[in-house]
Amino acid sequence: MSRTIAILGGTGPAGVGLALRWARAGETVVVGSRSVERAQEAVAKIRERAGAGAKVTGEENAAACAGSDLLVLTVPFEGQAALLKQLKPAFRPNSILIDATVPLASSVGGRASRMLGVWQGSAAQQAAELVPKGVTVVGAFHNASADVMNGDDPVECDVLVCSDDPEATKVVMELAAKIPGVRGIDAGKLENARIVEQITALLIGLNIRHKGHGGIRITGLPETSYRSS
Ligand SMILES: NC(=O)c1ccc[n+]([C@@H]2O[C@H](COP(=O)([O-])OP(=O)(O)OC[C@H]3O[C@@H](n4cnc5c(N)ncnc54)[C@H](OP(=O)(O)O)[C@@H]3O)[C@@H](O)[C@H]2O)c1
Repeated sequence: MSRTIAILGGTGPAGVGLALRWARAGETVVVGSRSVERAQEAVAKIRERAGAGAKVTGEENAAACAGSDLLVLTVPFEGQAALLKQLKPAFRPNSILIDATVPLASSVGGRASRMLGVWQGSAAQQAAELVPKGVTVVGAFHNASADVMNGDDPVECDVLVCSDDPEATKVVMELAAKIPGVRGIDAGKLENARIVEQITALLIGLNIRHKGHGGIRITGLPETSYRSS
């Protein structure tokens, strides 16, 4: 069954790229923002590209969070904790929060090709500490370039999905597979997000060095690894 996907902090390149791809796949998407006006501007741009029939609307983050049980968080690391604390009363019980946050050093004025240390191990594990009990955090979409996601070609990239709840992992793998070219892979427990998040810093360094939009593909696994059921 298709569920409404709410993208919190969805007005930046990462959120808009995901919203565009899911809207094209026929999903119902709510773009969240600190400002309804900015959310609606993003929605207008997405509709222009995905077609007028696209099921995309814009809301303030708290309303978007309260209106869905399938949430994606695409804010810079420096805003992640404060936003999650603010949204705490808005979460529906048993929601899934997909965290795509990468704790890049650029959050504190450093290089985007370097990581910050996070006490909990990763941004996703920090998120898991901040959401209400019963909300499952899944780390995913860290390594998918927004530049590619915002284009029209298939996204040649695997999405490593980390979570402590196998059912939530399946849901997110299915969501990943709705994007042409993307394969979701069960990458194990949420603690593995610390490795997956770091790959992004490496990819940013590669993109700078080679002037490209690198992604990752995992080879050599059986076909079933790329299927959620
Ligand atoms: N860009 C990529 O290629 C990419 C790929 C994978 C993962 N990521 C990760 O995804 C996240 C978003 O990336 P992005 O490039 O889209 O970032 P961004 O453009 O800097 O930020 C996304 C949105 O977050 C909101 N925001 C900014 N600062 C905030 C704060 N302090 N508190 C609450 N909301 C805030 C803004 O929306 P409003 O002003 O409308 O509220 C902004 O449009 C980052 O953690 C990034 O590491 C990015």
